[in-house]
Order: sequence, then structure tokens, then C-alpha cells
Amino acid sequence: MDIAITLATPEQRRQKPGDESSLGFGKFFSDHMFLMRYREGTGWHDARIVPYRPLSLDPAAMVLHYGQEIFEGLKGYRGAGGTVCLFRPEKNFERMNLSARRLCMPQIPVKEALAAVTALLRVDRGWIPGSRGTSLYIRPTMIATEPGLGVRPSAEYLFFIITGPVGSYYARGLEPVRILVEETYVRAAKGGLGEAKAGANYAASLLAAKNAKESGYDQVLWLSADGREEVEEVGTMNIFFVIGDGIVTPPLSGSILPGVTRDSVLTITRDWGMNVSERRIGMQELRRAAADGALREVFGTGTAAVISPVGALRYRGDELVVNGGAPGDVSRKLFAEISGIQYGEIFDRYGWVHRVE
Ligand code: COI
Repeated sequence: MDIAITLATPEQRRQKPGDESSLGFGKFFSDHMFLMRYREGTGWHDARIVPYRPLSLDPAAMVLHYGQEIFEGLKGYRGAGGTVCLFRPEKNFERMNLSARRLCMPQIPVKEALAAVTALLRVDRGWIPGSRGTSLYIRPTMIATEPGLGVRPSAEYLFFIITGPVGSYYARGLEPVRILVEETYVRAAKGGLGEAKAGANYAASLLAAKNAKESGYDQVLWLSADGREEVEEVGTMNIFFVIGDGIVTPPLSGSILPGVTRDSVLTITRDWGMNVSERRIGMQELRRAAADGALREVFGTGTAAVISPVGALRYRGDELVVNGGAPGDVSRKLFAEISGIQYGEIFDRYGWVHRVE
């Protein structure tokens, strides 16, 4: 794939955030972006890196009407000696192709997507923050651009990648979040879009999250659409429970996003010799485990926050307090292990780190 590169002029360069300790998440964007177009019959073409700027879209572009949009999220870390590390980036692009299939969008060869990210990181290397806990968030996105109001798959698409420096997703870092168990709304139903990383899933989550915040909680626990009993995800993350000496996460049964961090946690905890199971887990079992003291930890996993311990779960008037509201040992150890690998500080025994020269 040939990528035409147009560098930003000094006037087009963006203001870099001065203070790495208050980056927040998704507020700053780097100087350049990658773009590539698709047309049925022609395939992917016109790959280029250009200065970051607004997109120009026909107001009838199908993405604006029927939501044919998918995205990914991964991070570039500045490792020891200034090397730039990506964490399992091929997993993100494999998943993007699964999402694309579900939304009738074209496949992108993983090698080409990786070449695009690598070229963009080389151009905007100076945007990767250096302090521990910070990284360059990378947001690949695909949208349907064909103008038309008939409900059918678009014949034209735009794939773009933007990046920007980020700190921790939750302002309070590893401090446990408080979660409201959601019984009215669902994030996804089996057979729906839940296992695709489609913007539509996040749109579906907003009202419940807003209501939870208004009631003093950070996020919601999503239950299954059929029966509102089995646990599915927490906020925008996959969920894990430490019960007794075992670790449990719901299986990928169609409505759950196959998280890269989820998969990494499963691999690492199996390696640690923990009793790991991917199985259905319901609120009744959780209530019992909390009551008899077996529920030791609950945490979310995702690219943005890596590990996010849960300190309390509100369910039907009861507050299940987890580990006294403090982060547990498994959460802490996992956070240290995964971030150590991501920053190139811990020996990468799984071959997960992809270095950008
Ligand atoms: C993640 O945990 O990485 C997410 O999916 C959140 C992202 C949409 C901001």
C-alpha cells in the first residue's frame, strides 16, 4: 500500500497540551490523520496521511442516517529508551473486520491497517506522551459515505485513523468505581450488534449511564436482554469476578464485545495457575457470593482504563460492597503486569508488544 504524506504546515500544527498530568481522555488530537477510501468495484484506494482537519461529508452520507459505523481503540506507549510500543494491534484490526462483517462493511487487510498505524505514529511520534500512565490513544474508524436514503449497505466508505495523547480514562485511576445494576435498559441482545464495536452500541448505552450518574454511580452493570439476570458487561468494559480462589467472566455468547484486554487477562490469570472460567454468572449467584464473603473482587477490563476495580454494586435497594471498597490484589497485580508489558518494562513472554521503529 502506498501512503501519500502531506505534512502539516507550522500554522496547521495543533497546540500540544502542556501538562501531561491532566490529559484526561479523548480531549486532544495530534497533527495528522490517516484516510483511505473504498468504492465497490475499486476496493480500497487513496491512502494518505494529511493534517488533522474536519471531514467533508454529503449530508445524505449513509452513516448519518442509518449508523453504519464501526471503530477500534488501541494505544501507543512510550517505552524504555523512547521506543514506541503497540499492544496486540493485530487483534484490534481482526476485530474490526468482524465488526465490518456484521455491519456489511468491507474488510481491511490487517497488514495494511497496521502499516497505516505505523506510518501515522512515525509522523506524529512527538505526540506520544512520556510519563507513566499516559499514552497515545489511536482511534481507527470506518463510516459509510455513499449519499442515499434507501436502507441498504453503502457502496462507499471512508476509513480514517486519528490519535491523541491521553491519561487515565477514569479521573480517579485505579480507585474503585461505584456501579448501578441496570434492569430497565439493555446494551445489546444476542443476535444484535453487541459483539461488534459499532458506535450504535455506545449510543444505546448513554441513557442508562446518564441516569446512573444522576443517582451518584459511575457506570452501570449490563444484564442480559432475556431475563435481566445474567451479567454481561460493565459500562464500556468486559467484567471479571474473583470468587473464592476462582476468576469468572461471562462467555462470548453473541452480545459481549471480545475485548483484547479481556483476552489478555484470561491468558495471564491461567498462566498464574488461577482457576479461570468463562461461564454464565447471574445476579442471584453474585448476591449469594457477596453475602457469604466469597465475592472478593470485581473489575472491568478495557483498552482505555486497562483494569477498573468495582467497589460497590447497587442492586434492588442493596449495596454489595466489594473488598471493602478498595482495589483487590488480583486487580492490582493484573494492572501492574499488563501495563508493565505495554510500556516494555516487563519481559513480553507472550510476544504481545509490537515496536514501531
Ligand atoms: C475501552 O475500554 O477501551 C472502551 O471501549 C472505551 C472507549 C469506547 C472509550
